Amino acid sequence: MNLSIIILAAGQGTRMRSGLPKVLHPLGGRPLLGHVIDTARGFDGAELHVVIGHGAERVRSAFPDPDVHWVIQDQQLGTGHAVAQVLPGIADDRAIVVMYGDVPLIRHATLDALLAYAARGDIALLTAELDQPTGYGRIVRDNDGHIAGIVEEKDASDAQRLICEINTGFMAAPAGRLRGWVAALDNDNAQGEFYLTDVIALAVADGVTVSAVSTQDPHEILGVNDRLQLAGLERRYQHRQAESCMQAGVTLIDPARFDLRGSLQAGHDVVIDVNAVLEGDVVLGDRTTIGPNVVLRDTSIGDDVAVLANCVIEEAIIGSGVRIGPFARIRPETRLADHSHVGNFVEIKKSDVGEGSKINHLSYIGDTSVGHGVNIGAGTITCNYDGASKHRTVIGNDVFIGSDTQLVAPVEVKDGATIGAGSTITRDAPAGELTLSRAPQQTRKGWQRPVKKQP
Ligand code: UD1
Ligand code: MG
Repeated sequence: MNLSIIILAAGQGTRMRSGLPKVLHPLGGRPLLGHVIDTARGFDGAELHVVIGHGAERVRSAFPDPDVHWVIQDQQLGTGHAVAQVLPGIADDRAIVVMYGDVPLIRHATLDALLAYAARGDIALLTAELDQPTGYGRIVRDNDGHIAGIVEEKDASDAQRLICEINTGFMAAPAGRLRGWVAALDNDNAQGEFYLTDVIALAVADGVTVSAVSTQDPHEILGVNDRLQLAGLERRYQHRQAESCMQAGVTLIDPARFDLRGSLQAGHDVVIDVNAVLEGDVVLGDRTTIGPNVVLRDTSIGDDVAVLANCVIEEAIIGSGVRIGPFARIRPETRLADHSHVGNFVEIKKSDVGEGSKINHLSYIGDTSVGHGVNIGAGTITCNYDGASKHRTVIGNDVFIGSDTQLVAPVEVKDGATIGAGSTITRDAPAGELTLSRAPQQTRKGWQRPVKKQP
């Protein structure tokens, strides 16, 4: 059956106390609404309709996706009113599933179970049994146990408030029938809203079977209304991320201290220590280990690499057998070839480092190409910026750069050259020779250190 998915996302989200529309707040590094749209896209060929209102333009522009049909609800007159804005654009012979822009963890399989009922002409609700049902609409059943309707908390009697079976809001129905029921809604209730939930009683009155699909995972139905709930769902989401990484064979030293805000593609026997934050698309090769407190963003790392504690690596391509850190910063457009070493307090930006080369201590290497077999001594700085433009440094193969050297770009150090420690190199250094710029050392014979005068 052809499926149309309606995602409600027009509400203000007052309790977030935020300038950002609620559905744009990130969960796992992606807007809440992005998770919902992705789950909806899991249904091949489904039409996606998103109802927006508060911050509509910002929400819409956050998703330039051409397959999303945006519908503006100028005034938020209730969930039934929101669905009514979309129905004119949906043909009668389609099935509809209603989702929520602020309920990000709903599972595809759960929606699929709802859809099965709509496909055969019935209406289905996703319900849950909660120990603390406060705030939710309650499922009212007749004496035979059949669903008779939904009563909102604010409209419920004391007896109805004791009901623990709640409405999660997710619903599936045939479009033609839903159109009729939605058209018949009124706002004669405690909140003066057009409640989507009232279609249930209308369906029952029409003799249509209302089925309940009950979820066993209480987290998939949770919505975000404030930042506490957002933080709670973030942990829940990260728990799922950690679980799937471990199932794929990754060792997480502590799954509770792991954050994957994007995707991880990991080889065999990868080990990730505590407090790793992975953002964007990260690839880790076989047997690679990530130390504690490491941030990796949009980075691909080869096999047998050790990233030691407290490194930040962004938009880099790292070969195999490389050692990085502790305390190294690898910035965008950096490539480290196989078996290179980058040590503590080294920053590398927009540079290529050749096979087996070592930059082990306290250096800044920017806009540089480093050949293979190079040793860069402690405290080497490429002076790549003259205040107006960036310039490149080229270091050939098998070069040795002595400690505390400044390479003032543009400059080239040719193959096999040696640079004496403490040099400031402003002109190209020839191949195979020792180049240094250093004031000659002097010793003043008999010189006396001044002494403090006694008062
Ligand atoms: C709704 C259900 C309630 C259910 C609960 C689950 C109704 C009347 N009640 O209540 O039975 O237990 O969800 O969380 O449906 N929205 C719009 N336009 C509107 C109103 C709402 O787009 O005019 C969107 C909101 O942005 C939100 C969602 O619909 O994402 C739900 O609206 P909300 O006001 O939170 O409904 P609840 O009172 O929580
Ligand atoms: Mg709500």
